[in-house]
Amino acid sequence: MRLSTKHLLGIKELSAEDISLILSTAQQFKEVLQRPVKKVPSLRDVTIVNLFYENSTRTRISFELAEKRLGADTINFSASASSVSKGETLLDTVNNILSMKVDMVVMRHSASGAPHFLAKHLPETAIVNAGDGINEHPTQALLDAFSITEKLGSLEGKKILLIGDIMHSRVALSNIYLLNKMGAQVMLSGPPTLIPPNIKEAMGVQVEYNLKKALQWCDVANVLRIQLERQNQVLFSSLREYNLSYGVTKKLLAEVDKDIVVMHPGPINRGVEIDSDVADSHQSIILQQVENGVAVRMAVLYLLAGKANNN
Ligand code: CP
Repeated sequence: MRLSTKHLLGIKELSAEDISLILSTAQQFKEVLQRPVKKVPSLRDVTIVNLFYENSTRTRISFELAEKRLGADTINFSASASSVSKGETLLDTVNNILSMKVDMVVMRHSASGAPHFLAKHLPETAIVNAGDGINEHPTQALLDAFSITEKLGSLEGKKILLIGDIMHSRVALSNIYLLNKMGAQVMLSGPPTLIPPNIKEAMGVQVEYNLKKALQWCDVANVLRIQLERQNQVLFSSLREYNLSYGVTKKLLAEVDKDIVVMHPGPINRGVEIDSDVADSHQSIILQQVENGVAVRMAVLYLLAGKANNN
């Protein structure tokens, strides 16, 4: 089977069949990663540039590891240490890199739509979105879906709660697209100022502003980071107040008295959206999400490279 798309720009552009194919391929790569020799030569002649215009720990390391596990040649580019600081444009930068015979570009950018811009101007090169502004973070949603499936057996019919800064979260948008396509039920909870007012109708999700009620409803709680760097106005009174109303605490989970699976895409603001004793508890699968990110990104790169080679 092949993906229906040449690039991975967002979950919005994927079909349910594409998502199932990525998740089943990731399962095979997860098995490879359990072996003493964790490498396969699938992308031996493929060169991939990791183009990061915004900071990252998990996504960047995970993509690089995925590329190395597949035998690809990798180049890492940080905007802060490049000629971008001398005024070079995104398109000039990428055209210069591609002239050195690069096959795929993995890009993170603070501007929503930056990978779509590249895909439009460079249709022959596979572009992978590693997070663009407040738009999408497709591989995060895929690894979240993989981790939920691993824990609960499937996505169909499962009740997934996204908590917090929905307004500025590319993780939330990609998760909503994916969970809707795969038949899960989605609820959002957080301060009304951080949840877009028309999202219920626009995205077919439920909204519950009372966090305790929302937790009582769900099977999985995916706790999102407060994106202070993307907020240009004050949308809640203080981080302390936020923690009191929307922080996922041990006390709150004890009151709910249900074995909810707790997730977080990272980086965690401990003591703000989640307390340490929840993040590090038996209910948390935060580090399994990170581990699964490598297999999921191997699957994405493998499937996109196969598609590119066969066109
Ligand atoms: N989840 C995530 O995107 O983390 P990084 O910003 O560290 O890549």
